[in-house]
Amino acid sequence: MGIVFNEKSKVFLLNTPNTTYGVAIADDQYLLHLYYGKRLEEEDIRYLLREDEPPFLPSSNLREKNSFLDCAPMEYPETGMGDYRESAFCVRNVEGYRASELIYEGYEIQKGKPALEGLPATWGDEKSCTTLKLFCIDKVLGLHVVLMYTTFEKLDVITRTVLVENKGKQSVYLEKVLSACLDMDDRGFEVMGLFGSWARERHIQRMPVGYGRQNIASFKGESSHQEHPFFALITPETTQEVGEVYAMNFVYSGNFIAQVEKNQFDSIRMTMGIHPEGFTWKLEPGECFTAPEVVLVYSDEGLGRMTRTLHDLYRNHLIRSPYLHKKRPILINNWEATYFDFDEKKLLDIAEEASSLGIEMLVMDDGWFGHRSSDDSSLGDWFVNEKKIKGGLHKLVEDVKKMGMKFGIWVEPEMISPDSELYQKHPDWAIQIPGRETTQSRAQYVLDLSRDEVVDGVYEMIAKVLKSADISYVKWDMNRQLTTIGSSALPADRQGELYHRYVLGVYKMQERLLQDFPDLLLENCSGGGARFDAGMLYYSPQIWCSDDTDAVERLAIQEGTALVYPVSAMGAHVSVCPNHTVGRITPFETRGHVAMLGTFGYELDITKLSKEDKEQVRKQIAEYHRYNDLIREGDYYRLASYRENGYYDSWMIVSKNKTKALLFFVQVKARANAKSRVVRVRGLNPSMRYRVYGREYLGSTLLYAGIRIPAEFGDFKSKLIEIEEV
Ligand code: DGJ
Repeated sequence: MGIVFNEKSKVFLLNTPNTTYGVAIADDQYLLHLYYGKRLEEEDIRYLLREDEPPFLPSSNLREKNSFLDCAPMEYPETGMGDYRESAFCVRNVEGYRASELIYEGYEIQKGKPALEGLPATWGDEKSCTTLKLFCIDKVLGLHVVLMYTTFEKLDVITRTVLVENKGKQSVYLEKVLSACLDMDDRGFEVMGLFGSWARERHIQRMPVGYGRQNIASFKGESSHQEHPFFALITPETTQEVGEVYAMNFVYSGNFIAQVEKNQFDSIRMTMGIHPEGFTWKLEPGECFTAPEVVLVYSDEGLGRMTRTLHDLYRNHLIRSPYLHKKRPILINNWEATYFDFDEKKLLDIAEEASSLGIEMLVMDDGWFGHRSSDDSSLGDWFVNEKKIKGGLHKLVEDVKKMGMKFGIWVEPEMISPDSELYQKHPDWAIQIPGRETTQSRAQYVLDLSRDEVVDGVYEMIAKVLKSADISYVKWDMNRQLTTIGSSALPADRQGELYHRYVLGVYKMQERLLQDFPDLLLENCSGGGARFDAGMLYYSPQIWCSDDTDAVERLAIQEGTALVYPVSAMGAHVSVCPNHTVGRITPFETRGHVAMLGTFGYELDITKLSKEDKEQVRKQIAEYHRYNDLIREGDYYRLASYRENGYYDSWMIVSKNKTKALLFFVQVKARANAKSRVVRVRGLNPSMRYRVYGREYLGSTLLYAGIRIPAEFGDFKSKLIEIEEV
């Protein structure tokens, strides 16, 4: 397992349990990509290089160097020398010339995985990981570039990142430092990605790969509602169980590009990294730049295998929270219950009713600070509004605790309202371009978190609030995207660093929060799910999935989110009907089943629920306690998608030892004259015996023949089916 270098063939092989990734050193010291796919047992795969085919570049064929560069499978292609495909690396020197040529210099293989300074990244110890560093140099500029790869002993994952060090005498401007590139021959690939909008995040999209370049990208300053830093190339036959999948997922929360390019030779280049638009990084002599990490997964058993690999990676090697493997307190959030219109009495009424039904934590959402009574003001004024919360925060929290509940709070630390004391004091703290009107969004500006004094100033205000009362949970929101990009602290030739420095500032603040409040349960959020990404998961074990809490809308959102991220991380709540976002009326039971595929909680005025609905709350809470360990820690299988069949949705969670499983089924639309549906289960052990609805079956029967699920009268009906080893 791990990583080997074959001296004779000059080939590096990076092996995981079922996959192999190969890189070769070509004659002229170029690093060329050889292979990524199913595990190979043979070490010498250099024949794949096409060295005997013109215009391959032995040193004697310099007259065709351009043709070689434009078709060779480059491991990390640069701009300016002759490869006209999308480059991964572009650098400009002080004279304005844009070119570099990275020549291989040496390698190092080490056990374990180095951390990336200031950046979230997957982690692992010497037993679980091996890291390869490929050292390259551009002799003209004196740039040293390290391509870093880590393999995981028990997972079919390879991570990649790039470190650039300026050992030259002059500054350089990095204009593009993508984190991963994968060249291979086309196999009729299709591309799968996640697209969306506010309240419609991460819907799965699949389309053919044509000639030219297709990309998924954000330059909104965050990963965004609209596009998502994940994509996969899949062979056309791919389903949940079959087909080949090459996936890339970015461990980063800012601007990104994920691109596939098909060229004249039917070869494919897949790239991922920080979006070069709006990015320039000045690297002074002696300085180092680290590109965020890309996670690569190859599966030859369809999308399901990819999903479970990513879930296991993130649950065991990314999320650090002490809550990760624990049942989270069932919370009730007052946002959809009250919006801005609440006081301490209303909150206590909600808490009292909630605690009598078994809910464990009250979360006070937006509107408790400054003089905020709508979204027009006060961001930045992180002190409690005692007109609303009479007696102060400490008293409120103690009163809630007396009811046996924990207390959580909402904050939006990255923002500043023009109508705030903070803005009066520090107007320059907002991101802005001098002489140009700063674009407002939701009546707010974005704080310039590239500046340490801004990070410190805001952090200290929030820390003071957290220290003033016994606060167990923080919902960290971010409700607008970045515009009018300018920092009053950066010189002209460093303004291109602001987007990335902003993200580093967010990470710095969250890291500090975790260090200072190690027991805090942090939930990230961004106007719903605009920053549900692997970068944020490093800091918080859960992220609010979407502002759309409608059970039917959530099916597609949660299907897309769970394609990549563990269900234990998906913030999901039961809310009232008609649903506030789409006006749909769905059964209380169905809302509960859908929310159970996530962190589970409530977001409604519980004091106004009917007796029947309150009974449902009790039942759901009992189910949560019974099933959450399984849901949080188990393997996720997607059985059917309403998105595809227009009729029903179904998923399953199976315990790692395969003794227990839960099958969820939502009949979204009732059909006239319908018969029961046979749903084939997944993930069970074919030779174990299982009990379902009091009848025993052999695992193989359930896997190959399936379970019969009766048709229901009425739309939006759901079922939760328990499967247990006999
Ligand atoms: C957006 C979040 O997604 C909501 O849950 C809520 O917290 C609002 N912001 C508050 O402004």
